Formats: sequence, C-alpha cells, structure tokens
Amino acid sequence: MQKRVGILTSGGDCPGLNAVIRAVVSHATLTYNWQVLGIPYATRGLLEIKATPLRIHGLDLRGIDPLLNMGGTILGSINKGDTLAHIQEIIAGYHALELDALIGIGGDGSLAIFNQLQIQGNWQFIAIPKTIDNDVAKTERVVGFDTAVNTIVDALNRLIFTAASHDRVMIVEVMGRNAGHLALHSGIAGGADVILIPEIPYSIQGVCHHLAELRDRWERKFAIVVIAEGAQIAADSSNYTSCEKPSCGMGQYLAEEIRHCSHHQIDVRVSVLGHIQRGGIPSAFDRLLATAFGKAAVDLLATGQSSQMVAWQNGQVVAVPLDAVLADSPCLVNPDSFLVQTARSLGTYMGMEKPATA
Ligand code: F6P
Repeated sequence: MQKRVGILTSGGDCPGLNAVIRAVVSHATLTYNWQVLGIPYATRGLLEIKATPLRIHGLDLRGIDPLLNMGGTILGSINKGDTLAHIQEIIAGYHALELDALIGIGGDGSLAIFNQLQIQGNWQFIAIPKTIDNDVAKTERVVGFDTAVNTIVDALNRLIFTAASHDRVMIVEVMGRNAGHLALHSGIAGGADVILIPEIPYSIQGVCHHLAELRDRWERKFAIVVIAEGAQIAADSSNYTSCEKPSCGMGQYLAEEIRHCSHHQIDVRVSVLGHIQRGGIPSAFDRLLATAFGKAAVDLLATGQSSQMVAWQNGQVVAVPLDAVLADSPCLVNPDSFLVQTARSLGTYMGMEKPATA
C-alpha cells in the first residue's frame, strides 16, 4: 500500500537534519514508492495543516544534491511553545493531512512531546534523535553532536595560539544545557587544561590552584579552560563576583573569579561560542549517522513498527522503545566514565575528585 508519510524537525536545529530528510525521502520513494510530506516548523505545521510534498532531488540545482551537506533544516523548527495545550488540534491536523505515519526528528524535549501525541493520536510514529547536547538516552550518538564537537575543537585550535602568544588564560564557554558531553569531548580532543561540566561541581580554588601549578611547576604561562554553560560551582567554593546570570554567563563568571583568586596578574579572556556550535556543514560522521537513521526509520515503518526511536549502539542502528528512551533521558556524563578518567589522567582539572551524588 502506498503510504503518505510526514516528516518534521523539532527543537533546536543542528547540522545533519537535512541529511536525515534526504535519506528518508530517497529510501521511502525509491524502495517503497511512498509519498513523503515535509511538515514545516515542527508540530506547528500539523496544527496549521501545512505540508509540502518532498521529492528526491527536489532541490536539485543542475543535478547537485545540496541536502547532504547543508546545515540547519529546510523544514524549519521551533524549540519553544505550548504544543501540549493544542494536542487535539495537532492530532486533527495529522488526520486532515491524511498521513499514514510520521517521522519526528528531535531531542529529548521534543521526543517527550512526540510520545504524548503519538499515543493520544494513535499514530504510526518513529523518532530520530538529534541534538548537539548528545543527551538522549539509549543511543551513543545523535545527529549533530559530532559536528558541534568538531566546531569547538576548531575554535580551540585557533585560541590556543593566541593564548600562548599573550600568556593568557582563555576560557571557552560551550553549550550543552545540563549535560557536559560537548565540553568533555571537545575539551579532551582540543587539549584543554581545565574542563568543567555540570555533572562534576568545581571549586574556584581548584581551578586557580591548577592554573598556578601549570605556571609555577610546569612553566606553562597560558591555559585553555573549556566550561559548559551549565557548569556547577561547589557549595564551599569562594565567590567574589557580583556577576550573575543572565548578563553574565558561566565563562564570564569564572573569569571574574580567576582574576580575584590568583596571586599573579592573570590575563583572562572569554569566548562564548554560542550558536556557532549549531551551524555549519555536517561532519562525515553526522552525515553517515543521519543517512543510516533515516533509512532505518523508513524500514521500521515498512515493517509496521511504531513508538520506536532509532539508536546507534555498538556501531549499528537499532530500534529502542520510545518509552525506554524517555525514562532515562536526559542522559548525563557519568563522572566515573572512561573519558573523565582519561582527561584526569592527563592532568586536566575537572572539578571535585569526589563529585557530590545527586
Ligand atoms: O539543546 C540545544 C541547545 O543548543 C543547547 O545546547 C542550548 O542551551 C540551547 O539549545 C539554546 O537554545 P536557543 O536556540 O533557544 O538559544
């Protein structure tokens, strides 16, 4: 039977979303002869009963397929709103568009919303995980994370030389919400001296002591500090500044504290990478993941499955019940993980040795 399958992107954008759309449309069309409809602006498109038929090579310019390497999402997205207040209208929109199934691409917040909708609407539904935060449970990787890590590492590659030239402490604030995966992965790959993540509270004294040791013992006059936007300060840490959110982010806050606590005249600078981390051309791995996820999602629909999320486990794509994903999300960094131990064993300061248990 020819299906009409909707596809939408929800939550903050990231590199690789268009590559997912490309894979879904190609596989659904070529293998199953289905029609794929792009729903604009996530569930708002369903609410407003809007959809555009997507064709393979639909955006071709003289045979060039731009979707594989184009950042953002051609469907548009929203990461705020009161979707759950409009649940019945959204379900009605799905039926008005005569959809047989839906593929939703989102992070953990969007997945929770999709789950409510698909249960109440009795939809055939498959989720594909994406977010630069990499905090969706039951999958080792989500679309967008690898590119964001590479973007941060590229920034660190640049900052390290200007830091060294001026004997500066360079603080780089990265995204990730309450999860430290972005900071941890990019900090290790970029050779940071200090990596501060939400899962391991840090003390100002600990950071200052480490910077002093680098300078006095190892004669390193510069340092690179990667701090997650959600980093947590230990309760017993000193606090000299009046620097407070939202005017003052985590990076700026730490800079003020370092200026106060150091015995040396430390020159500190802060770079907040912000939405640069969400943009850009998807990495080879994100394209591969996006393509594999898109193909697998279509096959799950073809075999009559629903309420599943495609996931990357041990180098393979598997299907995981959406309920199980949501029960364990957001998935945070384990303070005892191999990567944390690796960073520490190379002398990186990562906060309290004995993290407070939640
Ligand atoms: O969840 C992705 C993310 O980029 C977070 O890392 C960040 O905290 C947030 O979205 C930023 O959201 P906005 O685009 O609304 O500023």
